[in-house]
Amino acid sequence: MITNTELEYKGDLYPTKIVSFEHEVDSICFHTDNSVILKVTVLRDSLIRFRFTTKGYFSNDFSYAIDKSHSHGYNFLEVSEVADYYQIKTSKVQCRIQKADMRLSIFDLNENVILEDELGFHWEESYEYGGNIVKMSKASKDGECFYGLGDKATQLNLKGKRLENFATDQYAFQKDQEPLYKVVPFYIGLQNKQSYGIFFDNTFRTYFDFCHERRNVTSYWAEGGEMNYYFIYGPQMQDVVTTYTDLTGKPELPPLWALGYHQCKWSYYPESNVKEVTAKFRELKIPCDAIYLDIDYMEGFRCFTWNKEYFPDPKRMVSELMEDGFKTVVIIDPGIKIDKEYSVYKEALEKDYFCKRADGPYMKGKVWPGECNFPDYTNPAVREWWAGLFKELISDIGVKGVWNDMNEPAVMEVPNKTFPMDVRHDYDGNPCSHRKAHNIYGTQMARATYHGVKRFAYPKRPFIITRSAYSGAQRYTSSWTGDNVATWEHLWIANIQVQRMSISGMGFTGSDIGGFAEQPSGELYARWIQLGVFHPFCRTHSSGDHGNQEPWAFDEEVIDITRKFVNLRYQLLPYLYTMFWQYIEEGIPMLKPLVYYDQEDIQTHYRNDEFVFGNQILVCPILEPNALGRRMYIPRGQWYNYWTNEEVKGGKEVWVDTKFDQIPLFVKAGSVIPKYPVQQYVGELEFDELTLEIYYKEGKEKSVVYEDAQDGYDYKKGRYSFLSFQTTGKEKELIIQLHKEGKYDTPYSKYKINLIGLPFKINAIEVDNVKISFDHQSFEDDNYLIVDKEFTELHIIGE
Ligand code: GLC
Repeated sequence: MITNTELEYKGDLYPTKIVSFEHEVDSICFHTDNSVILKVTVLRDSLIRFRFTTKGYFSNDFSYAIDKSHSHGYNFLEVSEVADYYQIKTSKVQCRIQKADMRLSIFDLNENVILEDELGFHWEESYEYGGNIVKMSKASKDGECFYGLGDKATQLNLKGKRLENFATDQYAFQKDQEPLYKVVPFYIGLQNKQSYGIFFDNTFRTYFDFCHERRNVTSYWAEGGEMNYYFIYGPQMQDVVTTYTDLTGKPELPPLWALGYHQCKWSYYPESNVKEVTAKFRELKIPCDAIYLDIDYMEGFRCFTWNKEYFPDPKRMVSELMEDGFKTVVIIDPGIKIDKEYSVYKEALEKDYFCKRADGPYMKGKVWPGECNFPDYTNPAVREWWAGLFKELISDIGVKGVWNDMNEPAVMEVPNKTFPMDVRHDYDGNPCSHRKAHNIYGTQMARATYHGVKRFAYPKRPFIITRSAYSGAQRYTSSWTGDNVATWEHLWIANIQVQRMSISGMGFTGSDIGGFAEQPSGELYARWIQLGVFHPFCRTHSSGDHGNQEPWAFDEEVIDITRKFVNLRYQLLPYLYTMFWQYIEEGIPMLKPLVYYDQEDIQTHYRNDEFVFGNQILVCPILEPNALGRRMYIPRGQWYNYWTNEEVKGGKEVWVDTKFDQIPLFVKAGSVIPKYPVQQYVGELEFDELTLEIYYKEGKEKSVVYEDAQDGYDYKKGRYSFLSFQTTGKEKELIIQLHKEGKYDTPYSKYKINLIGLPFKINAIEVDNVKISFDHQSFEDDNYLIVDKEFTELHIIGE
């Protein structure tokens, strides 16, 4: 591994004096004496791109990560020259570039430093690759914290860590192990209550060092390519994350069923085994929406084939499963078996779609089917062909989702676990070696899969899941955290990874519940389910070489706990779907680590375990055996204990008692939490009421509920329902105002309202200024009010 210090002392090169600059619309180019060019592009007032070259010219500007439809445009831009520096000013920040050495610093409008170069840009020539190792170092102040970077299996705050980005099949990875499956070279810095972000859009192997090597220095570097990074100004972390997510793209809404519970194992086969598993879910009344077929459904692990002995009639089986509410998801890997009789192989060979070594032969490597060749998904023609291959699976057989695995890409029995670095890629018309394409390979595979599944699933929505991903992959796919282990430590890791992915733009993520490798105890499985139902993607998966990992592999108590928590997830589906809507519309992370939730409160800066699910539910998993409760931090504000309805004032660490069938859950005071009835799968029941759990708060609070047809694209034409509730609590009064938007008429006609924490006895209730008859006794018996959904103001008046 190359360390920054080593390089610094071994003749790193630095920009010299700036000799000229030119300003064209939104871009300003600075040239130094030694042919370095820095191009600064102002994309938004709070989003500035910095691109350096040492060659005297820029190569073609191409990125897989940047979403072409990202917002751009600024309100103000002024470029000026002062004695020692040039200044670029927007309506949010000012950026100063030193004339003497091109070092730059960024200030807010009140002259507070946000980010400042230490050595700044520097590089090392690489004769062998005809390119440079490009580096950046920034000064870091005491107390600065760092977050982001995707799936890292280490504490949330990255201060003091060095991390490596190189997509790797890391079976049974350990805490702090590097590198992992995903590459998200984006971090958030938090300093002096101000957040900013850096997105280093470089697909070569990259490193980030957060004050690990030197106490007050943060640096990042890549083993090739350009120093090309985006600076994002907050000052709130929410601004940083939403701007980053807008830049790298948001997904479409998944079908609602994809937010249900999924069951997986390596592997369920033959058909009778699949049916046994699905039938047992229905028998035990544990909701489940998806069943997965791992590699054994194929004929000799050949993608797009079926083992006809295990699955004689896949179309019939898939449709029978569907009748019972189960959507079938199948695995598709990138390795295509070298077999002249296999049509997919033959076609790719004929069309010359496989990756080649530098000297010409096809890249050959072992994966599940034995020796394989690998499609070059960085070639648009290959992606188009790949997309077309899904016709039979999706249109004819009725498969509803596709699972892309081994796409780091993983190669077995070789020391580096992947392709040799000389393998050639098209890189969408920018030919390059695997050094540059490695980190993007999985994303391009998932992208091609997404386009194929979408094409054939239309007018329904596709569902894709991937193991490897680079920034921007969220536009096409969900993801999981790879081959974890059934240990308590891994439960801790899963909690952190999913939170971290959430603030790294890739929110639709979950872990293999219960652990992939090894066997969880019943207690560990139960604790994992209790966390997993609060992850956007919720699937049990296991390697299957130990015991079973369906809920009924454990005792009655664990089965009951699983049912209780999966039921809760199904009740919260409208809440979860609303979180997803806010993610796709505004880029707001679905899970909010406490530091994201309240960055002004320094108590949150090093918290790992607690997070806010959506905007209003605080979750804290139990991460140890035999726990009767735990200590946790409750963020500032008023909260209610979900289980007891007791009120708690936040801003402090507390001990929370829990039983085995509970984890600490708190609801923010003032919230309106929507709930559906428990269903065994999405769409099983028709119901006439939406339950609203309303938690009293003195003062005002806003809540929203998004709904639509749960699948299909009508929502893009405005056919959705968006409810905004404002609650105003006073000493003897609670007012609930409702504002509606959208053209979708929800199928229910009433709200079933549960009022929690009212500090007074109800005397009267008015709906749109009309008193309704109200029976004290029956309200006190079941605590619910039934109100027609057409109201705009509900007035609860105390005695
Ligand atoms: C990889 C995947 C795992 C899958 C297995 C077999 O290990 O990460 O989820 O079950 O391959 O396909």
